[in-house]
Amino acid sequence: MGTVDFFRSRRNTKWTRYGPDVIPAWVADMDFGVAPAVQAAIKRLVDEQDYGYADREGGFPERAVAFAFSRHQKELYGWEPDPDLVVPLPDLVQAMLATIVAFTEPSEGVVLQLPAYPPFISTIEASGRKLIANPMIDDGNGWCLDLARLEADAPSARLLMVCNPQNPTGRVLTRVELSALGRVAIDHDLVIVCDEVHAELTYAGSAHLPMALVSPEIAARTVTITSATKSFNIAGLRCAVMHFGSPKLFDRFRKRIPDGLLGHLSVVGVDATIAAWADGAQWLQSTLGHLDANRGHLGDFVAQRKYIGYHEPQATYLAWLDLTNLNLEPSPWEFLKRTANIVTTAGWEFGQDYGQFVRLNFATPSAVLEEILSRIAAAIG
Ligand SMILES: Cc1ncc(COP(=O)(O)O)c(C=O)c1O
Repeated sequence: MGTVDFFRSRRNTKWTRYGPDVIPAWVADMDFGVAPAVQAAIKRLVDEQDYGYADREGGFPERAVAFAFSRHQKELYGWEPDPDLVVPLPDLVQAMLATIVAFTEPSEGVVLQLPAYPPFISTIEASGRKLIANPMIDDGNGWCLDLARLEADAPSARLLMVCNPQNPTGRVLTRVELSALGRVAIDHDLVIVCDEVHAELTYAGSAHLPMALVSPEIAARTVTITSATKSFNIAGLRCAVMHFGSPKLFDRFRKRIPDGLLGHLSVVGVDATIAAWADGAQWLQSTLGHLDANRGHLGDFVAQRKYIGYHEPQATYLAWLDLTNLNLEPSPWEFLKRTANIVTTAGWEFGQDYGQFVRLNFATPSAVLEEILSRIAAAIG
């Protein structure tokens, strides 16, 4: 079976939602399979039919995930999160909602950099909190934080939501930028929730720094949320973590969100996550090499079309493309879907001012990317 036929034969939403004529470049899944260690961990469960209440490392599976997270962060960044301050839970959007509910009251403000991964926006709105938009600025060289506007808006906020590396721009924030965000949070007594799920997909030339490592003062007010789902391509397995940067912050959270509300993890997600973090490095490195080659290919494509606005992502496999100059009707997303049979993610989902943008997922075999780009070329020139 050819690659594309195989992708279409699976029950994966990326390849099934839009029908057989379309090549999907939307939802953030990679078309690359998984690390051998992840597959082996799942296979063991299947072979042993071991689907009962689980014991891992002499205790609850959640505890094993907390220890695995701590070991992995130490290996990657020299950061050793206290496992007692780690709360595993099924998914990151749940972590966003739980922290918003815990640290803010209805109608209070949550600051968020735009453009933003759509569930950040919908979660803030669904919780009845006020979204305080902090649009990033395209300075011609890349997407930058608008710290002056953040400073001006911070007095009406209670929580600062950060996504680093940033989805959809692919920015990896520098130590200076993270310190500046932290400084605003300290000055205005904001809790920081930092989503670092794309961190391990950072390309050479940039370096990811966990927010909790910027300074102890910043760490004390930071909830780090992350998972293995993006880097290791296991989004369907539902396993994530929250880490609270101080016991005080954790106590505040627990008083508002009882443990039972967060549920328990599926053992498949637990074993896959632990295997990915412990033994997935080699697979990840080779996957990142592949992504980097695709990033280069896409960069060449865009460089030949100066009318497309684009800054090369410093991390992850999402390209944020500004198609304003093309005047595509009725919208770039709709035009590409109808005319090129390519489905991206529509820019307006990332904030109302981004209707002329699309987000293109380039985590696919190079032959498929080639087909995506040639279809786009045929449609737009
Ligand atoms: C920045 C960011 N946060 C959270 C998520 C959601 O991750 P999950 O569905 O694994 O919880 C995604 C998914 O693409 C994401 O890009």
